[in-house]
Amino acid sequence: MPETNGTEADSSGPRPGLRLELQAIDLDRDGHGLARWQGWVVVVPGLLPGERAKVQLQQRQKSRWLSRISERLDSSPTRRRPPCILAQDCGGCTLQHLEESAQRNWKQDQLHQTMLRLGGIDHPQAPALTDQRGLGYRNRGLIPLRRGEDDRLRMGYFRRGSHRIVNLSRCPVLDPRLDALVEPLKQDLDASGLSADHDLSQSQGLRHLGLRIGHHTGEVLITVVSSQQLPALQRLAQQWIERWDAVKGVTLNLQPRRTNQILGATTTVLAGAPTIRELFCGLQLQLSTTTFFQINTPQAERIVACIVSWLSQAELAGPIVDAYCGIGTISLPLAAQGHHVVGLEINPDSIDQARSNADANGLGARTEFQAGDVANLLKETLATCSALVVDPPRRGLESSVTEAILSEPPALLAYLSCDMATQARDLKRLLQPEGPYRLEQLQPVDFFPQTTHLENLAFLRRVSS
Ligand SMILES: C[S@@+](CC[C@H](N)C(=O)[O-])C[C@H]1O[C@@H](n2cnc3c(N)ncnc32)[C@H](O)[C@@H]1O
Repeated sequence: MPETNGTEADSSGPRPGLRLELQAIDLDRDGHGLARWQGWVVVVPGLLPGERAKVQLQQRQKSRWLSRISERLDSSPTRRRPPCILAQDCGGCTLQHLEESAQRNWKQDQLHQTMLRLGGIDHPQAPALTDQRGLGYRNRGLIPLRRGEDDRLRMGYFRRGSHRIVNLSRCPVLDPRLDALVEPLKQDLDASGLSADHDLSQSQGLRHLGLRIGHHTGEVLITVVSSQQLPALQRLAQQWIERWDAVKGVTLNLQPRRTNQILGATTTVLAGAPTIRELFCGLQLQLSTTTFFQINTPQAERIVACIVSWLSQAELAGPIVDAYCGIGTISLPLAAQGHHVVGLEINPDSIDQARSNADANGLGARTEFQAGDVANLLKETLATCSALVVDPPRRGLESSVTEAILSEPPALLAYLSCDMATQARDLKRLLQPEGPYRLEQLQPVDFFPQTTHLENLAFLRRVSS
């Protein structure tokens, strides 16, 4: 096969091993470069938009070809040296090689394209609320563990596209107060001799190390996730509590099932308290091992303040329903402004915590929390409510939930989402001409610098029933 500039002629179509010279035009959701060749999309990990590289095709994945760079031919002005030395291997952060201002531009553009393509929505976005810290923003880490063939403990996130741990001693996106604990905790667990295997494919024992911090209080909760009770952990837990003032509790979470769900149903206290305190929008919250809490506390406070302020503009006759309410992160600041709020949530631990958080802040009389599936609970609560807040998991709204909203649409709807594709799909059904709502505002907020993720808030006002 004749070659041009070190690449092969392209007459025979794509095949594994074919060498090409390509220019990336975009990034995919994993932060990989995307190029086009003969009508095919070629995924080029490591290449930034505008950059050219000699690549070799590897394998076809549906309508895309995966490739590997053999030589990068130029460098984008937006390329930078990643702040984390493991960035190239670790699958935790995927945009570390891109300047932060370019990360933000790319995310806003993705939001615009996704809303247009999947939602038919061409609406101006407010500038994203950005986190100037860039690093050190995560208030929680759940880090896989495995003992290697050399008998040493490995701790770290997975290599991209695999389940192999990239061993780390530091993780720069973690809150620095948690980051400082990573290496000493790893050393202690290593020295314990306990077996460790995050997916239980080779042995039982330790699976993950969980770290959580109250951003405003500095209180730390350590959680060891294990397939079984391990008496040796009791002694270690006591040592950790005594060694670090900030560590207020160490818990053991049992996850005996071979599933990709990290946390199991049972959590017991090994030392100290089962919860830590956090201050959120001026309110006291208790956080535990298993309940959901937004990963980036200051950014979550900013977005909750937007929701509270938007809903407080209107005279609301009935209560506000906060669907997917977790521990009351949105419900309680709304109640603190005088609104009556009904929170719906599937995790009973979160509902218990939401109730005790409400009582601790003197908001018990203005809040009601119901445990169960939003799909079952929403219809009844919508009949009397005047505004609805939804903050669903990545999969977005179940179609039965959208149906319930459409059959009894509250006057105001705030939709917070961590997945712009499912949000665009849902908005399409809720907005005119299909649905009764008009879009008032799109407010993106960057909770996760160095990754491709973007949170987005949409405010909808009912204009027809
Ligand atoms: C993205 S979190 C939002 C939590 C809360 N709004 C916050 O800001 O902390 C989604 C929440 O929905 C809950 N959830 C998931 N599926 C649910 C369902 N079908 N019904 C009710 N809650 C659900 C999860 O347990 C989680 O607490």
